Amino acid sequence: MIDKNGVPAERVLDEIRRLRVGDRPVHGGRLFAYVYDPGVGGLDELGAAAYAESAHVNGLDPTAFPSLLAMENWLVGAAGGLLGGGPGSAAPDVVGSVTSGGTESLILAVKAARDARPELTAPRIVVPASGHAAFAKAAHLLRVGLDTVPVDPVTLRPSVADMAAAIGPQTVLVACSAPSYAHGVVDPVAGIAQVAAAAGVRCHVDACFGGWTLPYLRRLGVPVPPFDFTVDGVTSISVDLHKYAYAPKGVSVLLHRDPTLRSPQYFAYADWPGYTMVNPVLASTRSGGPIAAAYATLRHLGDDGYLRLAATTRDAVGTLAAAVRGVDGLRLMAEPEATVVCFTSTDPALDLFVLVDELTARGWHTQPQLRYADLPVSVHLTVTASVAPRVAEFGPDLADAVAAARQAGPVELSADLVALAGSLTPEALTPDLIGGLAAGLGLGAGPPDRMAVVNTLLDAAPAALRERLLVEFVGLLQRPTW
Ligand SMILES: Cc1ncc(COP(=O)(O)O)c(C=O)c1O
Repeated sequence: MIDKNGVPAERVLDEIRRLRVGDRPVHGGRLFAYVYDPGVGGLDELGAAAYAESAHVNGLDPTAFPSLLAMENWLVGAAGGLLGGGPGSAAPDVVGSVTSGGTESLILAVKAARDARPELTAPRIVVPASGHAAFAKAAHLLRVGLDTVPVDPVTLRPSVADMAAAIGPQTVLVACSAPSYAHGVVDPVAGIAQVAAAAGVRCHVDACFGGWTLPYLRRLGVPVPPFDFTVDGVTSISVDLHKYAYAPKGVSVLLHRDPTLRSPQYFAYADWPGYTMVNPVLASTRSGGPIAAAYATLRHLGDDGYLRLAATTRDAVGTLAAAVRGVDGLRLMAEPEATVVCFTSTDPALDLFVLVDELTARGWHTQPQLRYADLPVSVHLTVTASVAPRVAEFGPDLADAVAAARQAGPVELSADLVALAGSLTPEALTPDLIGGLAAGLGLGAGPPDRMAVVNTLLDAAPAALRERLLVEFVGLLQRPTW
């Protein structure tokens, strides 16, 4: 409840610091998901100061706050220039918008594609199965059909022929990733863009994750296939600045090859008694804070800074991948092409969920990925430059964690739980049942230290049941504090 007389500033800040103690460490190079840390001293302070300068500026009206418009236009220019657009390029008319994150950029790419084709009664999008879940969210929110195209279990990419075959008369957008989040592989963008263009359909490249690193990796000699506006048929690209541009959270850029393509992304409304509203993005009132922080980060790190950080990250990826290759019973899902290391187990006695817990116990926070179609359970590492100083410690810890996981053996669910997972339908899940299940799994006050049992249970459940379980579980966590 709100305090009657308020709380002194220092005490509030202290409260926040104490709350933060339970969080995963955002610095230190041992967290392989959620955060993107360049390990550059002073950058946090710069971002915070820039954020504070513009926190109360409102992106609702660019004419009232030209500072924000100027910074947004600069960010779009920086992203467009990096991704094959701008004066003198093959895509001189590139325009864009600054959004709050990758999910919003993808929702808006789908909205623009849908609203450009008002004559279609049941618009659909074609997305590789490896495409980010945000495409499914966009399809759901915008009531657009979702056609997913399977990926090859070896290359982890969709084939161009399968993508072409999935395009139908109601298709408004074909999407691909550069690279995919789960495995970090770049889809065959040129081929996909070509078949989309031949069908007269827009092609979006989701470069939210790696769009800021791929151009630098290419400059360092890594073989990066064409994926940006230099590819004919690519109509839009998303790139998240809060990922590998290392800006504080809340900033992504959605680029379109020209203003006509962007226009249906906007929403305007003049038919009410208040101010006439025009929103390029989903939010109406928007804080200038994240935009100013991103502007400061990009300006400060500069082109050379990003090149250096990409080189450091590439080296760290190489060391991590070598560590995985060095362990009997582990296999890389794909040779790293960008900044993801993803591996699976080839030994039934080596349970990856147990291994993830063992790594956590040794201070390495990795991300388990449940099995999907014919893809096995895997472990995902998003690698950032901050890992470099610690990377040599990973190999020995991995070997140690593997030995411990082998010794512990695979998780065996109790017969009751297996029967429950097999018999439950999503509709049958009541809040009471979930409460009982969460308590039984030790999830009462949030995730326990060891998640292997929970992950095994989720892995055993079909996707629809997983979704429902997670919705109910997070609903249990999100209860007001009085
Ligand atoms: C390829 C890709 N697209 C989209 C997203 C969604 O981004 P956000 O979490 O910023 O909404 C992500 C996030 O990891 C991603 O990796």
